[in-house]
Amino acid sequence: MRQSLLLALSIVCSLLVIGVAGGLTYFMVRFPDVPPPTDERVEITLDRTIRGGYLAQHVAVCVDCHSSRDFGKYAGPMVDGTEGQGGFRFGPELGLPGVIYARNITPTAIGAWSDGELIRAITSGVRPNGETLFPLMPYQTFSQLCREDLESIVAYLRGIPAIDNEVPARELDFPINLLIRTLPQVAELRADCPKPSDGVAYGQYLVTIAGCADCHTPSVKGEPIPGRNFAGGQAFDLPWGQIRSANLTPDETGLGNWSREQFIDRFKVYELADAIREVPAGDFNTLMPWTFYSGMTREDLGAIYDYLRTVPPVQNAVDRWPQGPIAQK
Ligand code: HEC
Ligand code: HEC
Repeated sequence: MRQSLLLALSIVCSLLVIGVAGGLTYFMVRFPDVPPPTDERVEITLDRTIRGGYLAQHVAVCVDCHSSRDFGKYAGPMVDGTEGQGGFRFGPELGLPGVIYARNITPTAIGAWSDGELIRAITSGVRPNGETLFPLMPYQTFSQLCREDLESIVAYLRGIPAIDNEVPARELDFPINLLIRTLPQVAELRADCPKPSDGVAYGQYLVTIAGCADCHTPSVKGEPIPGRNFAGGQAFDLPWGQIRSANLTPDETGLGNWSREQFIDRFKVYELADAIREVPAGDFNTLMPWTFYSGMTREDLGAIYDYLRTVPPVQNAVDRWPQGPIAQK
C-alpha cells in the first residue's frame, strides 16, 4: 500500500517535471517570435559609410553605450580608440534586473555575422544564436530607422577598427531572463527616408532615432507616463548623486523661452574642447550625451528644435541637479 502510494507520488512528480520542462521547451522554441535572419547583403559605399558614421556617432549614438567613457570629464566623452569595443556595465545600482554589458560591436566580435543577422539584432533584438537582447539596447527604437539609414550603419560598422575586447556575459534575474524573449517583433523598416525638406517630420524622425524620449519622457518600469511626453523630470541615481532630465516641451518651464539659435548652440558648444572640463571626483556630471550629439549638423539640431516646438506643452519645472550648486547648472 505504502509502496503504491510512493509510486503514484513519484509518477505525479515526474509528470509535473515533464509538464514544466515541456512548457519551458515550448516557450523557448516559441519565443523570440521572429523569422530567421534574411540573406540580404549590404553594399558598402563611401556615401553609406559616411552617413552611417554620422548616425552611429552623433544621432543614434551607438558609441554612447558601445565604447569606454571618461566620466572624469564633463558629459563623459568617449575614450579615444575605444569605439565599438563595448564593456560598459549597467547594473542593479541603475535599477536594472541584473548586470548587462554593452557588447563589442567591432569586427572582432561581429565580423562573422551576416548582414541579415546584424540587421535583425539591431532592429529586432535577437542575436544569431536566438538569444534576446535586453531592451536597454534600443532595438525597438532602431526598428524605426529607414532602410537606407540602417544599411549605412551596417556599412559603417563593417569598417571600424577591430578591437580585441572580451566582454563578460550578462546576468539577468529570473523571470526577466525569460520574459524578455516575448519582446522582439518583426521590424518593418520604412522604405522612404525623411529628408531635411520634410521639416517637422524630419525633426521627429531624428528625435525618434536619437532616443531623446528614453530619458526625457518620464516612465515607470519602462512604461512612459501618459501625457508627459518630453516633460522631463526622470531621475537618474548615479554614483555622484541624482540628476533629472530637462523639460523639452514648449512650455515656459521647458524650452518655451529658448530661441532656435540658443538651442543649437547649447549642443554645439560641446564640440569645443574647453567645454569638456575635468569634473572633480564627487562633483556632478551629466548623462546627457552632449559630446556625441554636438557633432550633429546645425541643420539637424534645428529640425529637432522645430519638432520639439510642436509637442504639447507640459508645465514641469525641473531641477536638473537637486544637490547643486554646480558650475554648469
Ligand atoms: C542605450 C545604450 C545602447 C545604445 C545607444 C546602443 N546599444 Fe547596442 N547594445 C546595448 C547593450 C546593453 C547590449 C547588450 C544587451 C544584452 O546583452 O542583452 C547591446 C547589444 C548590441 C548588439 C548585439 C551584440 C552581441 O554580441 O550580442 C549589437 C549588434 C548592437 N548592440 C548594435 C548597436 C548599434 C548598431 C547601435 C546604434 C545604432 C547601438 N547598438 C546602440 C546598448 C546600447
Ligand atoms: C541618456 C539620457 C538622455 C538622452 C538620451 C537625452 N538626454 Fe537630454 N538630458 C538628459 C539629462 C539627465 C539632462 C539634465 C542634465 C543636463 O542638463 O545635462 C538633459 C538635458 C538636456 C537639455 C538641457 C536643458 C537645459 O535646461 O539646459 C536639452 C536641451 C536636452 N537634454 C535635449 C535632448 C535632446 C534633443 C535629446 C535627443 C537628441 C536628448 N536630450 C537625449 C538626459 C538625456
